[in-house]
Amino acid sequence: MQDPNVREDQLRIREARARFAEALLPEYRAAALARWDAHAPRLLEALAMLYAQTTRFDDTLSQFVEGLADGINGRPQALRASDDARERNPSWFLAQDTIGYSAYVDRFGGDLRGVAERVPYLQRLGVRYLHLLPFLQAREGDNDGGFAVRDYDAVDPALGTNDDLLALTARLRDAGIGLCADLVLNHTADDHAWALAARGGDAHYRDYYHIFPDRTLPDAYERTLGQVFPQTAPGNFTHVPNVGWVWTTFYGYQWDLNWSNPDVFAHMALTLLRLANRGIEAFRLDSTAYLWKSTGTDCMNRPEAHTILRALRAVCDIAAPGVLLKAEAIVPARELTPYFGLRNGNAADAVGDECHLAYHSTLMAALWVALAESRGDMLADIVARTPALPPACGWLTYLRCHDDIGWGVLREEAAGDSEHAPFDLARIACFYAGETPDSYARGRAFQSAGCEHVHGTNGTAAALTGIEAALARGDAHALALAERRFTLLHGIVFAAAGLPTLYMGDEIALGNDETYLDDAERADEGRWLHRPAMDWARAHAAEALDAHRNDDEMDRVDGAANATALRIGRALRAMIAARRATPDLRADASMRAVPLGDAAAFGLRRGDGFLALCNLSAREIAIAPPPELADAHWRDALDGGRDTALPTRLPPYALRWFVRA
Ligand code: GLC
Repeated sequence: MQDPNVREDQLRIREARARFAEALLPEYRAAALARWDAHAPRLLEALAMLYAQTTRFDDTLSQFVEGLADGINGRPQALRASDDARERNPSWFLAQDTIGYSAYVDRFGGDLRGVAERVPYLQRLGVRYLHLLPFLQAREGDNDGGFAVRDYDAVDPALGTNDDLLALTARLRDAGIGLCADLVLNHTADDHAWALAARGGDAHYRDYYHIFPDRTLPDAYERTLGQVFPQTAPGNFTHVPNVGWVWTTFYGYQWDLNWSNPDVFAHMALTLLRLANRGIEAFRLDSTAYLWKSTGTDCMNRPEAHTILRALRAVCDIAAPGVLLKAEAIVPARELTPYFGLRNGNAADAVGDECHLAYHSTLMAALWVALAESRGDMLADIVARTPALPPACGWLTYLRCHDDIGWGVLREEAAGDSEHAPFDLARIACFYAGETPDSYARGRAFQSAGCEHVHGTNGTAAALTGIEAALARGDAHALALAERRFTLLHGIVFAAAGLPTLYMGDEIALGNDETYLDDAERADEGRWLHRPAMDWARAHAAEALDAHRNDDEMDRVDGAANATALRIGRALRAMIAARRATPDLRADASMRAVPLGDAAAFGLRRGDGFLALCNLSAREIAIAPPPELADAHWRDALDGGRDTALPTRLPPYALRWFVRA
């Protein structure tokens, strides 16, 4: 006799398909049903795992599949075409000519129209993937840089309208640039309509959040929870008068959603599709690690959180297969493979059924450690530990983003082992806060009483590599070294396996922005230090001079900061061009560290034909590349492609790229 649960599942699948088919417009039915048949079993299995025991599941599901069909019916023609093309070439976003750029709308272009006007600038830089930080209607007052969303269906009025968004995505598409937007899944703002209804006592909406009448359960959970903002938002629960204790992992005004409620899933998944239909091509799934809560755990990376992501991916595969999902889970790289859908076994045989991309925050933090400690060997260790990914998946590589450099991802490596020397994260945090005698950095500790309590570090790349201090002192020698550090770290990001993403302003080496301290709402939030407004005068000056390609003129540049911007911009553009010309730099080409015989050196091989040689120290070093590499014929990829032998010495902070001749 058939298991009644299996029978029930089959019935549910059949009914869901019939309802879905009926809601589709006839012209889209055949294609949509083919995708449904390929991906709905995964979707329904995931949803049943999460919600079969809830009373509302069947009702929610039938409404949901109708919503899914509506999403398909409403998908604009241009996006359908790209869905078809990308479905045929699922690794499309891993091409070596894809460079990312991340910016706040207001700081980059004022508003969405201003961003649209600056598309040619992005094109000239070679950007193919633009991550705009949150631009949906945010909470009144403080809103964590837009990460407290009040209305997911409207652009923030300060930044534009939904029509502006449509115009921007069309313009970007024409320019070959995909727009990535944050989808804040873990929480809404406390003035979102659901939160307002919950505040009004509506039991249906109270169940969209985790609300407790007293401290009993919060205290029990707190025993095993960590803290994201221990200084500015200690604890994980906030008392809201007349409501109760609300789960708030981040700020008190960011109410964690209750993803064990199927309505939350249905609403958020359909929200994603509506945004995708406005032309958003990639979603940065914010704080994905925190979606599922279970007592006795740290409530991070729970299996159910992965089931949710698997369901969201299946939704995209059915209704918007051209869309990418990017996991924002700031956890050690080893814990990230499940975010790509790699549960166990061999990556090569796996099907990536969760996110297409995830931040390699371990590599990001490790680059800063390697620089502070002059240790190429620890980067080699990070490369060796970087897990293989399923096909059509990639890392997002970066040197800085809008958040702090979180040191926590490196705790295991910091402890060292029989082959690797330990390192002291507290010393490194103090170094970047400019509080050690040897420091050139102008960063600041984040969320810790002092840098010795390791949490995170703020500061722009220019501030952390010493450019800012050298410019302020007018010290040409220090500036030259600092520019080398800046270029070196970017050179590793651009050479590593992944989609390299620049943070806005790094292409002109923007320094820290202290103005946030004058704004009462932001003064407590140190991350604003490295979220400066774009300096368009400097960007244009650097571009104009670069266009002349005239080194004499470069010496006459008005101001040392502009000259730095020009040199940094040139160096980055040279890497972007070399990357574009080097198939071995595809995001998914293999990556191996190469021993060079000096702990300060770092050699990185990509595929068979690419080699980067780096010196993480301020001294000139001798290196000895393995004979099979030393004996091969190489071209210098960053210096006009001339034939060259591999060097045996590397100057301070050297970065060299080679391709096989
Ligand atoms: C993510 C964002 C960060 C934000 C947090 C809460 O980590 O990158 O800026 O504060 O989520 O939404």
